[in-house]
Amino acid sequence: MTRRNVVMNVLSSSPFVHGKLKGAVCPHYACALQTRHYSSLCNGEFPKYKNKLLERIPKYVKIVEVGPRDGLQNEKNIVPTDVKIELIKMLASSGLPVVEATSFVSPKWVPQLADAKFVIQAVQNVQGSRFPVLTPNLKGLEAAVAAGAKEVAVFASASESFSKSNINCTVEESLARYRDVASAAEKLSLPVRGYISCVVGCPIEGAVSPSQVAYVAKELSNIGCYEISLGDTIGIGTPGTVIPMLEAVIDVVPVEKLAVHFHDTYGQALSNILLSLQMGISTVDSSIAGLGGCPYAKGATGNVATEDVVYMLNGLGVETNVDLQKLLLAGDFISKHLSRASGSKAATALSKTLIHSSKL
Ligand code: HMG
Ligand code: MG
Repeated sequence: MTRRNVVMNVLSSSPFVHGKLKGAVCPHYACALQTRHYSSLCNGEFPKYKNKLLERIPKYVKIVEVGPRDGLQNEKNIVPTDVKIELIKMLASSGLPVVEATSFVSPKWVPQLADAKFVIQAVQNVQGSRFPVLTPNLKGLEAAVAAGAKEVAVFASASESFSKSNINCTVEESLARYRDVASAAEKLSLPVRGYISCVVGCPIEGAVSPSQVAYVAKELSNIGCYEISLGDTIGIGTPGTVIPMLEAVIDVVPVEKLAVHFHDTYGQALSNILLSLQMGISTVDSSIAGLGGCPYAKGATGNVATEDVVYMLNGLGVETNVDLQKLLLAGDFISKHLSRASGSKAATALSKTLIHSSKL
């Protein structure tokens, strides 16, 4: 089956015919509907139609937690270093394989993360998770390595205007910088992740063409990024714009190298994640309690909440190795510290139910 056919199937497959469910319905389904407030799992066999709808969903999804970086970079009041360190440790203990810890960027541009060195020093020996950091140039890479970082990420944009406002250079200039960062990192055997911002829309330019995203993705892949995270920085994408963008990128970069990074400004993130999984992507970025935004993308809210992603994946029977209960504790910890309600709908709902989240 061609990729386009798969996409068309995803869009056209519906469990309903004239408003009625087609295919056999598992005996547990009605019960699951009644108890859906309490459980994301179907305890028996899924309805037959699930196989068709969800046949390409990966068995395991790697969640890249970006809350301590993408989330806390945007806080008005600077979060104390000790709180950041405790949050990262709690996230790691929940089983998250990757917790992006901080950024080695200019403290004049992002004062919230000026304590990057102390954060990374404090967590570098925590077992079980990797703790990558953002490095916009060689200066950032050198500082990150000196502090003990073992993995870095570079961040480009598909939009010229956003590139200028976020990192003060053109897209081509940024790619040249990142080539230097990647080759220096390679000599140190440090893996480099690549981000692309504004993959479906830019806060300054509006719509962004899929071909521009594909171009930047290919370049980042060529310079040696082992993974490329496609960022809907302002959260405006819908399946209607995300599918053509992913198609264009998958044409030039193997799908195994791609991750998706949806901010949830318009409430579209989970639907976009689901279709990304259906298109073969198995790495998803998310942020605890839905923290964050980008200081250079006004009005953009946080990433999709990690708790919501894990809740959905649990419901799909997809492995993440993340303990939802421990995740809820981490979300509660940071939300209390920020004196704010969690941005996670699943966490909010679960905090009101009596069922123990370890059963979900
Ligand atoms: P610049 O002003 O053009 O840099 O900033 P410069 O090379 O001209 O240097 C100016 C000053 O910055 C100098 O200091 C440098 O030493 C210092 P001075 O002489 O004035 O005292 N400097 C640094 N200091 C510490 N660490 C460094 C560093 N580099 C230079 N690494 C720069 C260019 C890239 C540094 C700046 O624009 C910057 O730091 N930008 C970071 C912006 C940022 O972090 N944005 C948020 C992350 S991206 C994001 O959130 C999107 C993402 O989540 C995906 C998505 O959702 O789309 C990843
Ligand atoms: Mg982001």
